[in-house]
Amino acid sequence: MTTILVTAGPTREYLDDVRYLTNASSGRMGYAIAAAAVSRGHRVLLVAGPNTQPTPEGVELRAVISAQEMHEQALEAFDAADVAIGVAAVADFRPATRHSGKMSRARDQTRLDLLPNPDIIASLGGRKGHRVVVGFALESAAHGGRAGLQDRAEKKLRSKSLDMIVINELKAVSAEASQLSLLYADGRQEDLPSMSKEESAALLIDRVMALLPGGQGAEEA
Ligand code: C5P
Repeated sequence: MTTILVTAGPTREYLDDVRYLTNASSGRMGYAIAAAAVSRGHRVLLVAGPNTQPTPEGVELRAVISAQEMHEQALEAFDAADVAIGVAAVADFRPATRHSGKMSRARDQTRLDLLPNPDIIASLGGRKGHRVVVGFALESAAHGGRAGLQDRAEKKLRSKSLDMIVINELKAVSAEASQLSLLYADGRQEDLPSMSKEESAALLIDRVMALLPGGQGAEEA
C-alpha cells in the first residue's frame, strides 16, 4: 500500500491569544487530493491547518494551527510516507513574540517583528531518499506573464528538491474550478484542462503515482 502525506489549508500565526496572521486558503484542493488518493486505495496522512472542509472518510487527519506545528507533524508523518504532496498555504512569517491575553490598543509599539517560518516541503524534499515529493506553486501571471510564472515555478521545483511542481493560477484561491499545469523535474510539462478541483485532484494522483519506482502506484489504481 502506498502512503501519501498531504499538507493542506492555511496556517495561523498568533500575535496574541486572539489575533493571528493567515491567508485565504480554503483547504479544498488539498482535501480533494486526499479524497482522490484514499478512494484509489492509498493510505493518506493529512496534515491540515484550520479550515472547514469535511474530513474525507478513511483519511488520517492531523489537525494543526501554526507552520511550526505543521512542520513537526509533516516530518513525523514523512517517515511512514512514500509520497508527499505540499498543498498547504503556509504563512511565510510568524510574529517573533506571541503575547498572552489580548494586546491593548493603547500599546505604543506599532511595529510587528516577524521571523521566517520553515519551508516544510523543502525540508521534506531535502531528505526524500526514494520518496516522491510534489509541491504547488500558486502564481500570478501578472508579473512577467506566463513565461515569468513558469520560470518562478521551475526555480521552486529545483530549490525545494521536488519531483513535480503543480502550477495553479492565483485566481484558483477559494474558487470552484482549477487549471493545473504539471512541471516535472525531468523537464516534462503537462497542462491539464480547466476542471473541478475534485477532477484535477484525481488526475494529479494518477500522475504522481506514475512517478513511483516502476509506476507501482499506477498499477494499484
Ligand atoms: O515558495 P512558495 O510558498 O510559493 O512554494 C509553494 C510550495 O511550497 C507549496 O507546495 C507549499 O505547500 C510549500 N511551502 C511549504 N512551507 C512553506 C512555504 C511553502 O511547505 N513555508
